[in-house]
Amino acid sequence: MQIITTLEALQQERKQLAKEHKSVGYVATMGFLHEGHQALMKRSKAENDITVLSIFVNPLQFGEGEDFETYPRDAERDQLIAEQEGVDIVFMPEAAAMYPDDRTIKLQVTDRVDVLCGKSRPGHFDGVVTVLSKLFHLIQPDHAYFGLKDAQQVAVVQALVHDLNFPLEVVPVPTVREADGLAKSSRNVYLSEQERQAAPAIYRALQQAKQSIQGGEKDASRIVSAVKEFINSETNGRIDYVEILSYPALQPVRKIEARIIIAAAVYFDKARLIDNLVLEAD
Ligand code: PAJ
Repeated sequence: MQIITTLEALQQERKQLAKEHKSVGYVATMGFLHEGHQALMKRSKAENDITVLSIFVNPLQFGEGEDFETYPRDAERDQLIAEQEGVDIVFMPEAAAMYPDDRTIKLQVTDRVDVLCGKSRPGHFDGVVTVLSKLFHLIQPDHAYFGLKDAQQVAVVQALVHDLNFPLEVVPVPTVREADGLAKSSRNVYLSEQERQAAPAIYRALQQAKQSIQGGEKDASRIVSAVKEFINSETNGRIDYVEILSYPALQPVRKIEARIIIAAAVYFDKARLIDNLVLEAD
């Protein structure tokens, strides 16, 4: 496994891979790797000659007062996990190299961001598409793997690839969960013991919503109310949002039909957790 830290060395390596006609799969992460990230690496390994993993805590996608400084980091452990998964190249750039002082271009997402996390975290997805545009240019993957745990991110990245004509395929990968249903997240380490016990209630609430839709419930606002009520009764968290939208267009939905997302975000003392289900209603 190669560890590359400079943009120039990565570009050099990418040219070599092109000469060898290797297909490249790419997994973008902010590190503190867990089984959710590992599922993306496994999928990339299975579908490409070479797998590139990037580890970069992107300052541009964190807002004022968010957890950029305290975001969990463990480069050594991450490298061990990457090695175990058979990753070929780990790209770990310095922030100063990714964002030199003389930047003059800013990317802005104009659709799919007035809802869910885009609404709660203004500018977040501008930071995500900016870093990913740079990383896509540097890595030039054939396939890029993204987790549906961040389903809005998948929708925004699909729009980025479509709008800016990146010659790559975005591959969505299902959410990996703990045994009790809690979606794996680097931020789960922030939870107190009591919060950790309660947090799977978010997923249970979403599952109950799915069951009621499968049982014939069509009224989105009734389902949203039931999900909120369940989360409030089972946790001490503060609900940021519970929304039902079309997916991946992320348009408001009143009557449940076609493909929808039910998504929730809940603030605990030191962590804000998100989860969702994407489902096909008939
Ligand atoms: P990060 O939160 O580290 O997540 C990296 C990738 O892992 C994302 O595609 C995310 O959806 C996926 N992932 C996280 N938890 C998962 C889980 N439980 N199951 C399946 N996939 C999971 O998302 C980011 O980093 C950043 O925004 C990034 C795309 C790297 C841009 O900076």
